[in-house]
Amino acid sequence: MNEKSQQNRFDTVRIDGLRKNLAEYTAMDENAPRSLSGQFYTDPAFFNHECRAVLHRGWHCVGRSDEFARNGDYLTLNLLGEPLIIVRDGDNIKALSNVCRHRGMLLTEGQGNSNRFVCRYHGWTYGLDGALLRAPRMKNDGFDQKTCKLGGFSCKQKFGFVYVSLSSNPSDIDAELAGLGNIIANYEPEKYSTAHSATEIWKCNWKSLVENFMEGYHLSIVHPHTLHGYTPTGLSKKGPNGAGYTSYFANYPDKIASRGPGAASLTKEERNRSTLFAVFPCQVVSIASSLLVSLSIRPLSPASIELRWTMSVHSESLDPKTISERIKLWEDVNQEDQDKLEAMQSALSSVFANGGPLAEDDYEGTIRDFLRWLAKQDASHGLN
Ligand code: FES
Ligand SMILES: [Fe+2]
Repeated sequence: MNEKSQQNRFDTVRIDGLRKNLAEYTAMDENAPRSLSGQFYTDPAFFNHECRAVLHRGWHCVGRSDEFARNGDYLTLNLLGEPLIIVRDGDNIKALSNVCRHRGMLLTEGQGNSNRFVCRYHGWTYGLDGALLRAPRMKNDGFDQKTCKLGGFSCKQKFGFVYVSLSSNPSDIDAELAGLGNIIANYEPEKYSTAHSATEIWKCNWKSLVENFMEGYHLSIVHPHTLHGYTPTGLSKKGPNGAGYTSYFANYPDKIASRGPGAASLTKEERNRSTLFAVFPCQVVSIASSLLVSLSIRPLSPASIELRWTMSVHSESLDPKTISERIKLWEDVNQEDQDKLEAMQSALSSVFANGGPLAEDDYEGTIRDFLRWLAKQDASHGLN
């Protein structure tokens, strides 16, 4: 056996062991939930397995619908190694492959507005629907313009977000998120317009950020000056979960200043809390009466992610000065979380990072939901 195939055998044995361990989380004892051991967050072979079995087929938020308001508005990104152009083409928002069909050049970069995409290598030109419109000097028999359309991926809009799946057979996102619609309907999530976006690299595992954003246990300790005043740990309450999501409520103390009017349909309770939810696998969101913050997590390696986050404001709920203050607040909050998650990443390869007891449902029940979801995905799509 050569060195490479021996390494492959070691990897397979290790992945099988981790998968058996993960399978136990589908039947996790409600009263004794535990976190995953560190290897799930650090092992390169397990990360590759996870990309194929879980991440590739999932729905990933790639932006807000209002970021593609005009025909030809586009944004590029790399999702799990797949270069994409998200673009408004008439009534639809589409996810096109950002790879030229001639010899594989990256077609375009960044964000902007255009009525066509011209390859900067040999000038092949594509329309907003991906059709090849022009290919200079191509006259040989082997060339058929019609067969050189850009590739595409499934793309859906929901709650004012744009989601993409790389799978040719994606799951039914409408069914998976049906219950989530009921939780956030009164906020009118489609009516928030995007005021800010930023893209960052964090040196942590993707699951750590999903878990971190979705638990209220750390709020008062990690965010004493930024969040504790209006979303203290002690007022966190677990929310409903369903096939493709989980949620919790970060309730505000009595007598805090109004967070902005928001939708007329909001109940008093909804007005006095931030509702946090995760759309598995990689999106976490906080929605409040006037403000919507969404984090799209793009796994790069076991120990790194590209994070794109957006801040959106309900109708005319906040003035420009307040919006600037909220952007600064969220930059500070994100920095506080990033510091903790990067420090934790450096500890997760320890033999003693072997999965600890989770807190009760109101504080860490969402992590239990997430781990059960992961275990289920792995079991049903784990490439046995
Ligand atoms: S690679 Fe795009 S035109 Fe040649
Ligand atoms: Fe946090």
